[in-house]
Amino acid sequence: MKYNIAVIPGDGIGPEIIREAKKVLDTVGKKYGHQFCYTEVLMGGVSIDATGVPLTEEALETAKKSDSVLLGAVGGHVGQSNWYSLPPNQRPEAGLLQLRKGLELFANLRPALLFEELKAACPLRDEIIREGFDFVVVRELTGGLYFGERKTYEENGLRKAYDTLAYDEEEIRRIAKWGFEIARKRKKKVCSVDKANVIDTSRLWRQVVKEVSADYPDVELSDMLVDNCAMQLVKNPGQFDVILTENMFGDILSDEASMVTGSIGMLSSASLGNSKLGLYEPSHGSAPDIAGQNKANPIATILSAAMMLRYSFDLEEEAAAVETAVQKVLKKEYRTVDILSEGKKLVGTDKMGDLIAEEIR
Ligand code: NAD
Ligand code: IPM
Ligand code: MN
Repeated sequence: MKYNIAVIPGDGIGPEIIREAKKVLDTVGKKYGHQFCYTEVLMGGVSIDATGVPLTEEALETAKKSDSVLLGAVGGHVGQSNWYSLPPNQRPEAGLLQLRKGLELFANLRPALLFEELKAACPLRDEIIREGFDFVVVRELTGGLYFGERKTYEENGLRKAYDTLAYDEEEIRRIAKWGFEIARKRKKKVCSVDKANVIDTSRLWRQVVKEVSADYPDVELSDMLVDNCAMQLVKNPGQFDVILTENMFGDILSDEASMVTGSIGMLSSASLGNSKLGLYEPSHGSAPDIAGQNKANPIATILSAAMMLRYSFDLEEEAAAVETAVQKVLKKEYRTVDILSEGKKLVGTDKMGDLIAEEIR
């Protein structure tokens, strides 16, 4: 079968990690008899340099017409690169937000799984992670603070700015359903995270999630305040199954979740909506500090490609083959520098991709 994939390498380490994910996909294609056809699309800083804007209409159209989208990362040194002297809606990250919104990808899944082999790379004490953990952050992706009205202005000689955090019940209901559906296929526990002791959107969030839970009597629902959740994630990550939360909280908690798995270079992500078309990208950014040095961990991107096989193409066996290959390479003690621990074998970005592809072959 033929699958059309829009590929957005983006900025910084983006092109390096995308190269490895394509290597792995091509190996899957050869082994299982699929054809993955790539159309390269510009987004982020590279698009600004080439076209003046972070995402052209044409680029968005190409993404819309494809079967799925694979993304590296966008952005540069915030505050340092010239891209950040542009108005906010013309900067690299605006391209990503326009893409998510344009494709109506409101459900962002970020699975945090501690590979047994990476326990030494996890910053938490042994007794905390002895039982391991396996949870997923289900993050609302097209609402909240990211898309509310905002302004920077001056009044009476005082510089001011505001951002608006708004949700309606439909936006909350549809992501809550995703959370419960996913929990049903896992350990049947949803922890809904909010700040209902202070903000109104969170109070509405809590009510609507509770209403949705009535349709899922087999799934246990709990609520947790976001500050407590940030603490619980390092105190006892094993308590979580599905963490269901709004856009900004999910952004922050998923970076925290990534570090307890060993590195941000391990955390994959899938952004989905009501169709099969999804956007698959690592949870991390363009890492300008290590770009071009063959140091970046490509595993988050490779695991995101595995999610693409599973969610957009229904290729479960192929997705599992990629995940197993990653685990085997870790078992053979190969590590990129971000997950390196004593006695393990250091490899670069390209070699890590080669090793994973080799395990699939
Ligand atoms: P970042 O995730 O790019 O980097 C944070 C730290 O993690 C850095 O030290 C980096 O070297 C390291 N790191 C990240 N990915 C890694 C990998 N695969 N392997 C090894 N180490 C890795 O976050 P930042 O530095 O805050 O942001 C840099 C730029 O990326 C900014 O412009 C930001 O807006 C952008 N960004 C983009 C996305 C995206 O495209 N989805 C996500 C987050 C940040
Ligand atoms: C992420 C990133 C993005 C976000 C930025 C780059 C817009 O941090 O994917 O986690 O905040 O969603
Ligand atoms: Mn983020």
